[in-house]
Amino acid sequence: MGKEVTAFAPASVSNVSCGFDIMGFALEGAGDTVTARLSTRPGVRIGSITGSRSALPADSSANTAGPPVIALLRECPSGTGVEIGIHKGIPVGGGIGSSAASAVAAVVAANALLGTNLPMERLLDLAIEGEKIASGSVHVDNLSPCLWGGFILVRGYNPIDIVRIRVPDSLWCAVISPQIEIKTEHARKILPQSVPLRDVITQTGNAAGLIAGMLTADLPLIGRSLCDVIAEPARAHLIPGFALMRESALAHGALGCGISGSGPALFALASSREDAGSVASAMGKVLAGMDCLYTTLVSRVGAKGACVIS
Ligand code: HSE
Repeated sequence: MGKEVTAFAPASVSNVSCGFDIMGFALEGAGDTVTARLSTRPGVRIGSITGSRSALPADSSANTAGPPVIALLRECPSGTGVEIGIHKGIPVGGGIGSSAASAVAAVVAANALLGTNLPMERLLDLAIEGEKIASGSVHVDNLSPCLWGGFILVRGYNPIDIVRIRVPDSLWCAVISPQIEIKTEHARKILPQSVPLRDVITQTGNAAGLIAGMLTADLPLIGRSLCDVIAEPARAHLIPGFALMRESALAHGALGCGISGSGPALFALASSREDAGSVASAMGKVLAGMDCLYTTLVSRVGAKGACVIS
């Protein structure tokens, strides 16, 4: 045996404030790498996990990289097994699509390794099996930008309807990741199960405004629309310095700022690389003042999704 394929899948920002479970975009400069190897041992085995500060399950049914490949082998039986090596380039439970990136990189690598050539839409269905482990629910707002790249609107879930949204060339993003872990499953359990009609109206207006702003390159409209009245109020207390970081981002030129995914990362959009850099430093100063370790990333909306790299 010995044949192997390695795939890379990028980090991503999901929700984008007003698009809970329905919007996300890929980032540049961070992601997970997964190598899939043919094995004479049937089934799927995790051979190695590197690059993570947190302990991750080595059981293939409990690690988000495993179930997508298990489902692929079930759908396209090949008579061989697959061994997976995961290199984490994204903090686990950090809010920038760590579980999605492992799931997507694994299924893209295994699809190439086994020559199954499944289309992207099927790979998304399989990757969902991994994301379910992390969050206990089906949502594809990290998985889809991770797979396709760019900014994605999930127009619907039944069936899944993915729409790629053009973004203004001048748009940049600053991400700050405090070194604490928030489990998505927990961050979903604390959400309200029903919301007042006035909040639905506000959120719908903002979501429509954000998409219109992207398509017409109206940066002030994008900024006005980056407001979440549903998930963020329930989750903000989980993030140290959230209000101060947001305030500081806006004072240093951010168009808008919010929780990335289920946190603890925050993202801010800006109209130039320089502004995004200033915003990242300003948010960093807040966390430094609280003795909270963090990393920052300044990125465009990443045009590239997951790909085979060797
Ligand atoms: N939309 C998801 C949430 C993203 O906010 O729970 C986290 O994976």
